[in-house]
Amino acid sequence: MDKNIDIDLSSIFVIFGGTGDLTKRKLIPAIYSLMHEKRLPDNFTIVSIGRREKTNESYRDEMYEFVKQFSRFSINDNLWHNFSKRIFYKNFDFTTDNKGYEKLDLFLEKMDSKYITGGKRLYYLAVAPEFFEGIITNLNNNGMIKKSTGWQRIMVEKPFGSSLKTARILNHNISKLIPEADIFRIDHYLGKEMIQNILAIRFGNSLFEPLWNANYIDNIQITSNELLGVESRGGYYENAGILKDMLQNHLLQMLTMIAMEPPVDFDSESIRDEKVKVLRSLRPFTKQSFKEDVVRGQYGKATLNDVEMLGYRQEVDVSPSSNTDTFIALKTYIDNFRFGGVPIYIRAGKRMNTKSTEIVIEFKKLPGINYYTEFDKIGPNLLVLKIQPVEGFFFRINAKKPGNEFKMEKVELDYCQSCKYINDSPEAYERLILEASKNNSSLFTRWDELEYSWKYIESIEKGIKNNISNYPNYEAGTVGPKAAIDLIEKDGRQWWNILTGEEV
Ligand code: BG6
Repeated sequence: MDKNIDIDLSSIFVIFGGTGDLTKRKLIPAIYSLMHEKRLPDNFTIVSIGRREKTNESYRDEMYEFVKQFSRFSINDNLWHNFSKRIFYKNFDFTTDNKGYEKLDLFLEKMDSKYITGGKRLYYLAVAPEFFEGIITNLNNNGMIKKSTGWQRIMVEKPFGSSLKTARILNHNISKLIPEADIFRIDHYLGKEMIQNILAIRFGNSLFEPLWNANYIDNIQITSNELLGVESRGGYYENAGILKDMLQNHLLQMLTMIAMEPPVDFDSESIRDEKVKVLRSLRPFTKQSFKEDVVRGQYGKATLNDVEMLGYRQEVDVSPSSNTDTFIALKTYIDNFRFGGVPIYIRAGKRMNTKSTEIVIEFKKLPGINYYTEFDKIGPNLLVLKIQPVEGFFFRINAKKPGNEFKMEKVELDYCQSCKYINDSPEAYERLILEASKNNSSLFTRWDELEYSWKYIESIEKGIKNNISNYPNYEAGTVGPKAAIDLIEKDGRQWWNILTGEEV
């Protein structure tokens, strides 16, 4: 084994939901990439659990195809051959078959002796949230999360609960079985390279930090556009909508990284202590502010380049009269000393005209030079964090245009990180699996963060319940409802679309 790899990572990764999309597209390819980069030890073992009948061989063959398609590295047959020998498939119904857990534990113990993994287990719940509690209870009843050796941790996918109330009940019930420190609640955005980079850019540059407050920032914009619709996830999406699928987690997490105070240390508690303060300071919506500052939408069918795109109501498992939101735009505030009064505009949508996630910090404009109108033409300084698909950042400043006349022009300092480090950005899931294996919780959501984010979401949900929607209200493949543009323009501002090159 490579001497640089921590022996503590010699463990078994147990996946509940072994035949699901997440496992095929993200988890197994991410683990393969980690093996490829020699981040995981040679005895790292995977046991996947699913309800369908499969042999180890057929499961491995299936995974081979997904690794080929989704891993960051092209497949090395030698590496795959050695690695795939330690991928096992167990079929039992984890919702009803209590005996199945007993057998699973015996099998895991056998693997422990064979691969010298010493009882170290990371249970990954890649299943629908209604199964979280049942699985954890069964693991506990069978002594599988309190072994006498090694460590046992649980990684849970989002959503954690479907409301403040259900999240509290779930947390209450599972915290009786497993300590908070061993629960790793996933928000995969926290594993993204550029989200991590926010801390480096903010706290590593004297240029930005002194200006990072209400005195100098005019507004903050967070945009997440997706090209895809809901695909095969209509059933889930009908209950979640964009509010719970994106805003409650990914978008609010991005906001915490932008708005948090510098942590006293880089450990999990220090970072999350600061993030939770941001969530606590978010101003909840009232009846009035909901009406004025929240725009919702749902995509309708459209034809784009001769291709017919379904409307949300025509998607599989979606009600033909559904009022679920697939788009949201809002203006919100963080009521604290640093950001008091700075409007924060957030928008996210499915079936938009592009796939792009970006965060824009728009600085206040200078007053200009009286009587010299050239200075009236300049734009605000913009710092744009390009989260995806291109990673990097962009800084727009104003300068003199070369020539005999004193003319101003906007200049872009554009850093493309993903062009410089081609294929070097780990997939979010690679980082998350590695950090959970190392027992670093800083990239995972602590319970109090969740609690405050659900509280905030509740104030929006109240508004939604009391307002009728007239759907669909934007065509698939467009920029979303016009009301979202009006939302910002009525404040004398505009959405910046730097990643798509519409506003440079
Ligand atoms: C998931 C949501 O958490 O994030 C999906 O459930 C969404 O609906 C996805 O498409 C977006 O993730 P990414 O990494 O593609 O931006």
